[in-house]
Amino acid sequence: MEFREQDFIRNAKPNQLPEQLVINASAPSNIALVKYWGKHGLQLPMNPSISFTLNQAQSLTTARLTALDKPVSEVLFKFYFDEKHQPDFEPKIAGFFNKIRDYAPFITAFQWEISSRNTFPHSSGIASSASGFAALAKIIIDLEKQLLPLKSDEYYNKKVSFLARLGSGSAARSVAHPVMIWGYHPNIKNTSDLYAVLPEFDIHPVFNNFRDSIVLVEKGQKKVSSTAGHNLMNNHPFKDIRKKQAFEHTLQMTKYLETGDLENFIKLTEAEALSLHALMMTSAPNYILMQPDTLKIIHQIREIRKNSGLPVCFTLDAGANVHVLYPENISKQLEEVLFSKINHEVIHDFV
Ligand code: DP6
Repeated sequence: MEFREQDFIRNAKPNQLPEQLVINASAPSNIALVKYWGKHGLQLPMNPSISFTLNQAQSLTTARLTALDKPVSEVLFKFYFDEKHQPDFEPKIAGFFNKIRDYAPFITAFQWEISSRNTFPHSSGIASSASGFAALAKIIIDLEKQLLPLKSDEYYNKKVSFLARLGSGSAARSVAHPVMIWGYHPNIKNTSDLYAVLPEFDIHPVFNNFRDSIVLVEKGQKKVSSTAGHNLMNNHPFKDIRKKQAFEHTLQMTKYLETGDLENFIKLTEAEALSLHALMMTSAPNYILMQPDTLKIIHQIREIRKNSGLPVCFTLDAGANVHVLYPENISKQLEEVLFSKINHEVIHDFV
């Protein structure tokens, strides 16, 4: 079933508020195969994107809520990461709370203490905003279930993604496993710009136990904030052609995931990663986020594929780290020919 924006608005008032509540949730990170790059309106994507869910990289979040005597106009909250108060993260969360007010008005009835930690190393270069906002969205839906008359599971599943999207676009895809599609595509059933969906088809078993090994070429903060990056698409000389390409790529990717066409999956995944960086290199201002070692590793992966035929490929985020994607049964061989020769930390994750 398709949901519209107004379906997620809830005006019902909770009868009685519990004085204290503790809600826990966890959510995984994800890596895009076809990239979301460019947005408009209220966090709506310029094009559809498709991702693998990363099961090991989770955000674990706890919210401690205290009912207020009267609802407030701005949500009162404090955010703790790894048990330390983190005021730097609070403006983005405050922005999120503001954007979701119509869909979850009950959030202003409480004072919030939010504590989060990740199962992956901090400043590892793995985007924690996707898993972080998805976990927070799950907490808000849990609260909605406790306070307001119940709705269908489908409604709640889609609303989690809808809310997560308002925190960070890619967070929309961090709510279910193993593959999610976010963004309307006329030829892919049930897709929407408002929330991500699971594909209607079964993912081919060659993608079971797929691995994403992240080579940390560069740790730490992103050089270009994702919102600033997305804005570069507004006046990008290749905007229209990129849009067309991303629609085609998303449809092709669903076909390869369904049929298990590893050869074309590899070609397309790498083409998408390079397109993303090509877009960044040709925007105004432009960014070169790859480092010499990023290119070196890309070449190594291509050499290994050429010489040994191993089905391994790379993808990239908006940064220098290389995500190495491959079926688990070639892990040992890759350790020998690739990872043991790299002078960077590698984090292994599973789809
Ligand atoms: C390159 O989801 O981080 O990782 O919506 O501004 O929070 P905001 O952006 P964000 O952008 C992710 C961009 C990307 C590609 C992708 O994940 O699809």
